[in-house]
Amino acid sequence: MDWSLAVLLFLLLLPLPPPCASDDRLSLGSKPLSPNSTIVSTGGGFALGFFSPTSSNQAKLYLGIWYAGGGIPGLTVVWVANRDTPATATNTAAPTLSLTNTSNLVLSDAGGAVLWTTNVTGVVSSSIPAGVAAVLLDTGNLVIRHPNGTALWESFDHPSDSFLPGMKIGFVYATRATERLVSWAAPDDPSPGSFTYGVDTATLLQLFLWNGTRPLMRDGPWTGYAVAGWYQANAGVFVYQAVVSTADEIYLTYSVSDGASRIRFVVTPAGAYQLQSWNAGSSSWAVLGDSPAYDCNRYGHCGPYGYCDNTVAAPTCVCLDGFEPADTAEWSRGGFEQGCRRKEALAGCAGGGGGGDGFLALTGMKSPDKFVHVANRTLDECAAECTSNCSCVAYAYANLSTTGTTGDMTRCLVWSGELIDTEKLGDVVGSDTLYLRLAGTDAAVQGNVFSAMLTVCATCRRTCVKGKSSSNALRIALPTVLTSTILIITGILLACWIKSKGKRGNKEDNNKISPGARSKSDELVEGSAAQDVELPFIKFEDIEAATQNFSEAYKIGQGGFGKVYKAMLGGQEVAIKRLSKDSEQGMEEFRNEAILIAKLQHRNLVRLLGCSVQDREKILIYEYLPNRSLDAILFDNSRKVLLDWPTRFNIIKGVARGLLYLHQDSRLTIVHRDLKAANVLLDAEMRPKIADFGMARIFSDNQKNANTQRVVGTYGYMAPEYAMEGVFSIKSDVYSFGVLTLELVTGIRRSAFNKTKDFPNLTIYAWDMWKEGNGKDLADPSIMDTCSVDEVLLCSHMALLCAQENSDDRPLMSSVVLALENGSTTLPTPNNSWHYGQGSSDMEQTRYRIDSSTNSLTLTNIEGR
Ligand SMILES: *[C@@H]1O[C@H](CO)[C@@H](O)[C@H](O)[C@H]1NC(C)=O
Ligand SMILES: *[C@@H]1O[C@H](CO)[C@@H](O)[C@H](O)[C@H]1NC(C)=O
Ligand SMILES: *[C@@H]1O[C@H](CO)[C@@H](O)[C@H](O)[C@H]1NC(C)=O
Ligand SMILES: *[C@@H]1O[C@H](CO)[C@@H](O)[C@H](O)[C@H]1NC(C)=O
Ligand SMILES: *[C@@H]1O[C@H](CO)[C@@H](O)[C@H](O)[C@H]1NC(C)=O
Ligand SMILES: *[C@@H]1O[C@H](CO)[C@@H](O)[C@H](O)[C@H]1NC(C)=O
Ligand SMILES: *[C@@H]1O[C@H](CO)[C@@H](O)[C@H](O)[C@H]1NC(C)=O
Ligand SMILES: *[C@@H]1O[C@H](CO)[C@@H](O)[C@H](O)[C@H]1NC(C)=O
Repeated sequence: MDWSLAVLLFLLLLPLPPPCASDDRLSLGSKPLSPNSTIVSTGGGFALGFFSPTSSNQAKLYLGIWYAGGGIPGLTVVWVANRDTPATATNTAAPTLSLTNTSNLVLSDAGGAVLWTTNVTGVVSSSIPAGVAAVLLDTGNLVIRHPNGTALWESFDHPSDSFLPGMKIGFVYATRATERLVSWAAPDDPSPGSFTYGVDTATLLQLFLWNGTRPLMRDGPWTGYAVAGWYQANAGVFVYQAVVSTADEIYLTYSVSDGASRIRFVVTPAGAYQLQSWNAGSSSWAVLGDSPAYDCNRYGHCGPYGYCDNTVAAPTCVCLDGFEPADTAEWSRGGFEQGCRRKEALAGCAGGGGGGDGFLALTGMKSPDKFVHVANRTLDECAAECTSNCSCVAYAYANLSTTGTTGDMTRCLVWSGELIDTEKLGDVVGSDTLYLRLAGTDAAVQGNVFSAMLTVCATCRRTCVKGKSSSNALRIALPTVLTSTILIITGILLACWIKSKGKRGNKEDNNKISPGARSKSDELVEGSAAQDVELPFIKFEDIEAATQNFSEAYKIGQGGFGKVYKAMLGGQEVAIKRLSKDSEQGMEEFRNEAILIAKLQHRNLVRLLGCSVQDREKILIYEYLPNRSLDAILFDNSRKVLLDWPTRFNIIKGVARGLLYLHQDSRLTIVHRDLKAANVLLDAEMRPKIADFGMARIFSDNQKNANTQRVVGTYGYMAPEYAMEGVFSIKSDVYSFGVLTLELVTGIRRSAFNKTKDFPNLTIYAWDMWKEGNGKDLADPSIMDTCSVDEVLLCSHMALLCAQENSDDRPLMSSVVLALENGSTTLPTPNNSWHYGQGSSDMEQTRYRIDSSTNSLTLTNIEGR
């Protein structure tokens, strides 16, 4: 079934007689809203008024918000006030909506009885100034606004069935209030239906779609990213979903690229959670995403210890490694409820002699439900927590991007019961590595993914035999409700869409685009036979041997493109980069790209020494640099003193030269696309070398092919035009360079920017300081003794020029290098386009909120209308 073409007919509700009044607000003392009029937002996007969901019978009237104007036949209602209490109209009297002198909206029926009210309390009527008004914003949000701009109430805090851009689904700590989306009972009945979507309040880590109290679908536990962005090719929009955590609340929100206002998530009366978008061409609502997409994605569909494999064309149930169907005959008939059972019992605590149990690392998973969140555990401690507890069958660890209210950024999950509702997603944003306890032999026979074999028997037996005394020390904290935290959720679902849509796209488009891409490479090497370059091809087996099958013990890092291992190869220390399997690029293309990249040689670029290919495995071998990455030193309070100002200035200049070479001086014009502190490595003399250049080329072919693009790069370093529109150029790298320079000057990590400084992000903070003439105070306190004020000012100034919103305003790297080398004093003034505080639309607020969350994306282009 191709859901992208599906059309929603049930949304065609009937509007009431043509609206007469047209204003965007209801003020204190103004004429009440009645069924013969509507309130329309200033941009004409939404209307507030009365509607009747059925054509034949206008007896029931509801107050609602729907998309206004622009060719939508009938009404698509996104919000309903009086879902439980419809109004009636007679020939002589009608319901009305008015704003009272207590700053409340009150919906009264024809007889004057109150049907619905906003019920804002705590505002003393005598203190209400005249300017209070209920305003319908162009985002679809109805806000009761105090003249000083404070929102006293907003409809976005009280969703119906629709999740609009800028809205939040979350949890408020103080009130423990949580709002769910609630479906309509039927397409023509706005009263609350049985399907709801919202935060799992027991863990605050995941989202559920429920049918009554029964889970219907679950988005796996949050893995810590702040923003997940994807390109929805079938609607031509970028969608950004963000998890925002403040001291008061945690919530999920999203936004879309400009010009795509008619887009919404909705829980349908039939129990699907859909992303819909208005298609003006076909005058219909297109369903861009629909979940659960397959039976397999339904909650618990594959039974205990079974999982839904989404990485295949037709997702289906599979038993976890080391497990087999509990009832093979039933399983083969498609009856998965009984799930799977262990092939070999765990040695556990009772088992003596024959070897211990081990843990198998399953990557790219949606972790199962029914976990216990243990607070304050590092990965190692999390492993120990599970290893030492006889009843623990699995664990999963993630670093969270926000600390919430507790300062705990760890997410250690352990399971002791059956593993239910697991899915395999593949290597996508939002997937987890699940460590599964297996009997020793089972774990040992596993191939590549086998990671760490932990012999647990001794520890375990000791714990269990000693019993109570040691169990205190090994106490597992109670679930997060009381102890920690924070945190939701989110879009494993998105990950699935990205994945599945990527798959779909590839089938059709591969042939169309690949030849073009290939000829481009040929052009770039100017006909010279690629084979001319000496780039050793290493046998895959040799690499497996050198890293002991990619054992965790050899792993030194992990990035967007894959994992990095350190090993000895041919008597030399090397860094081995194992590319994630996202790239659908063929072996031949990969070889060509690797050879091209090997041609790039510059003292500020990491040397590529060799590569290896086998089946879908693609591996690059680089020189190993002892001081590792810049971020590990710069943001470590005990080590950052190693970087005095002269060293930092040299790093800034070195990175600039390396970038200049990539952009202009090499023959290839490479756009790095993911320049950040973690991708700048330092050699023994602390000289910078840019890593991961050319990765974009290796992955770009796939990017172009994919129907749904994933934006490559790191939020916070990404230029707005790249983040929002996927438009990237050498100027996007210049932006990242600006952010990196600010980090070097201030010693503050962009993604960990401390909100107590009262600025939403590092760039705006730096701009504010600089324009107030306090640029020198930007310098990291730990370089105070060694810094030259002029150089700090020059670097800050240059950084601000590079990080300007408008890519045309940013300088080329050649100018940057020139200015840094010569200490130019005639630089232009940065264009103050970092808007903050100005305007008051909702989207502006959303942008601001997303912006101020840690590790975030700057969504500044959204409101521009
Ligand atoms: C709308 O209806 C109200 C009462 O139902 C009436 O007082 C008012 O005049 C009507 N306005 C228009 C423009 O028809
Ligand atoms: C208004 O809120 C108060 C407490 O917040 C509650 O007791 C009352 O029932 C609410 N009234 C209406 C009409 O919802
Ligand atoms: C507010 O309205 C109520 C009823 O409409 C009225 O009794 C009261 O005097 C009003 N208060 C003020 C301060 O205007
Ligand atoms: C606006 O007024 C409200 C109500 O008097 C008050 O609670 C709030 O703090 C004010 N906000 C600002 C920004 O002045
Ligand atoms: C929702 O639950 C009801 C009753 O429990 C059941 O009849 C219905 O089939 C369920 N719907 C879905 C989509 O699961
Ligand atoms: C986490 O550990 C740190 C130090 O070990 C401690 O200060 C903090 O209170 C702990 N937090 C929680 C939530 O247990
Ligand atoms: C979590 O963060 C720590 C410290 O920053 C890092 O060493 C570790 O590799 C991270 N773990 C994962 C699973 O990302
Ligand atoms: C082992 O895990 C179970 C379930 O999580 C828990 O009830 C038990 O207290 C744990 N035992 C020890 C020794 O930590």
